[in-house]
Amino acid sequence: MKRIALFASGAGSNVENIIHYFSNSKVLEFPLIISNRSDALVHERAKKYGIPSHTFKKNDFEDGKVLKLLQEKAIDFIVLAGFLLKVPDNLLKAYPDRVFNIHPALLPKFGGKGMYGSHVHEAVVASGEKETGVTIHYVNENYDEGRIIFQAKCPVLPTDSPDDVAAKVHALEYEHFPRVIGEAVLGIKERQ
Ligand code: GRF
Repeated sequence: MKRIALFASGAGSNVENIIHYFSNSKVLEFPLIISNRSDALVHERAKKYGIPSHTFKKNDFEDGKVLKLLQEKAIDFIVLAGFLLKVPDNLLKAYPDRVFNIHPALLPKFGGKGMYGSHVHEAVVASGEKETGVTIHYVNENYDEGRIIFQAKCPVLPTDSPDDVAAKVHALEYEHFPRVIGEAVLGIKERQ
């Protein structure tokens, strides 16, 4: 069994989708959810599935508290699903090429600090892009710059609002993120 910790700061709909997708898996399990916000909806979702969820402050990520918990729980991989803090060096060193993120745009466009959630979709619409999508990538020391594993695209229509774009992007996330995590973790194949 590969043991994966899910990190999320917000609603956690991707977290729930991943847990649901692998609910009968004999090779992957999700024994831990970590957030930096105690009021994040992801904790409710965790409860629903009986998965322990914890909130840590920014400092706890940096000073090794989070790493200690991951090691105690024998976690093999980390998946960021709407997690807004920068992953500190101690975690990246302990999990080389074992931390994955999903970004709601076609990196390297619309990435970097401040480019998260609705900001991304607003920027995509404002710049008149004809397409956007999702990027699943390894996490390195810079925001949104790790090696790309997979991208999927969707059209942006001239009439689309940022919310319309967000809905299309979320649909792509639900469709692809669990499968790509599975493939990356199990080393089956990489794309792009
Ligand atoms: C997703 O769009 C993800 O790509 C981004 O944050 C959003 C999280 O949504 N990084 P949810 O919390 O999974 O509903």
